[in-house]
This record gives sequence, C-alpha cells and structure tokens, in this order.
Amino acid sequence: MSTSAKSSSKNPKLPKTEEKPRGLFSRLNTRFPWLKLVTVIYLGLIIILDLLDLTISKTDNLTDDFPTTPFSKHVKATERDLKNKKLVALTFDDGPSPETTPRLLNILTEKNTLATFFVLGYMAENNPDIIRRMNREAHEIASHTMYHQNLPTLSWDGIAHEINAANDVYRGILGRNPTLLRPPYGNINNNVRNIANLPLILWSVDTLDWKNRNPDTILEITMNQVHDGAIILMHDIHPTSVDAVPRLIDTLRENDYEFVTVSELVAARKVELAPGASYFNFEP
Ligand code: NI
Repeated sequence: MSTSAKSSSKNPKLPKTEEKPRGLFSRLNTRFPWLKLVTVIYLGLIIILDLLDLTISKTDNLTDDFPTTPFSKHVKATERDLKNKKLVALTFDDGPSPETTPRLLNILTEKNTLATFFVLGYMAENNPDIIRRMNREAHEIASHTMYHQNLPTLSWDGIAHEINAANDVYRGILGRNPTLLRPPYGNINNNVRNIANLPLILWSVDTLDWKNRNPDTILEITMNQVHDGAIILMHDIHPTSVDAVPRLIDTLRENDYEFVTVSELVAARKVELAPGASYFNFEP
C-alpha cells in the first residue's frame, strides 16, 4: 500500500471529534467503507437474478401455453374406482384435422369423455393449436409416425425417420416425447420394434369407419365386438366418424362401460408396457 492510502485511512479519524452534523449514511460510510461495494454487488446480484428469473418465467410461459391441467369435469382414472368396471379406450388416428377434430373435441367435452389420439407428425405440425387443445383437455396424445408410411416396406433409415421426425414435431409442440406408438395399418416388423423403442398400441375393435363412413355401422360393429379392456379404432379425419361418437359414447355408457385413455387403461390393468411389444387390448 502507498503512503497516501495510509494517510487517507487516517484522515477520517480527524473529523471524528465533530460528529454532530453527519448523517447516517456518511457515518456508515466512514465506519464501514466496504459497505458501498457490498451494496453495489448485492444490488447487482439481485438485478442479475431478476433477469435470470425473467428468462425462466418466459420459458414457463411457453409451457403455460400447453398447460396440463386436467379436463375440468373429468376425474382422472387414478382417482376413480375402476375395480370391477368395464373399461374401454376410444382411439382416433390420422389427425388432427382442422375440419373435423375440433368438433370431435367439443363432443368429447360435452360427453365428459377422454380419448387417445394417435396423431400424424405432419398433421400435428400443421395444427399445433389442436394438439395443445387436446393436451389442455387431458386427452392422451400418441404417435402415429410422420407421414403414415407402411413401415415394414421401408429401410432401417426410412423407419427411423418416420418415427423420429414425428417425435421431433411432438416434442416441439408439447415439450416431451410421445410414450406410445401406433404403426400405420398396424404393420410391424423387427426393425420397427427395435427402432420404435416404444410400446406399440394396436386395437381390438376395428370400426372400419374409414370404409363404411356410416355412423350406424360404426355403432353396430362396436357394440358387436366391444369387450372389457377393448381398444376401439376410429379416425377423426372423417366427418361420419365424428358423427358416430355421441351415440357411441351414450350406448357404451348404457352398457356400463367407463371411458379411459390408453395409459389409464394400462395403469388400471397394472400392465408393465415393454418397448417394441405390441398390445391389442388390456383385458382384466
Ligand atoms: Ni392410420
């Protein structure tokens, strides 16, 4: 230290005798010369933390666009007594479509029913708002690949692209990966099993809604084939399939069926899903 520093440190001691007119801050400043620096560092830290917090809450807001708040009237399966109940999962493939899916979601809300949507990556990419709405309304959203190719006809890389590109879209919208995959046409080979690394969810009731385009036929096929633990296959891209849903829900309820998502069904039946394995239903 230089002598001037020493002398300046002595200096404050001189006027100490006449202390009266000095304010609190200057007294503090004299007694604790480091206090100013500490205060500046402290305030600086607060500002930095605040900025960090702002960026954190900005990303929070991003996820807030897709809140996972449960559907208002729906009681989650874990909170419902599903023992000795007949369970059924409604599943809708190939969407979301802006022409038909919002109307289906309205019906499901009105009927207080949850469904599982196996969405196509390119359809989801074009309609992210519908995906967010499904998520908000507590429906289950799963993958049906990117472009609905017949996977076993593709190379290893082709299959990987179909699955991974869809996962990327899904993650981009919902911030998480899908946990279930339905291969298009239900067609699977060993490459599909290995690449997917997800449980493959097929179906036990095929309404053939894409072919018959008839709500009465859809209802008839369903009521003839439905069973406890059934997975019902429909497509939300056809207006006639959406038309079939209100009566389908009412009739299944009249027959003591409870609607659950696929994951709720899996949980209710205490099944441990394995990646690459296929599931057609979850019977008791
Ligand atoms: Ni399909």
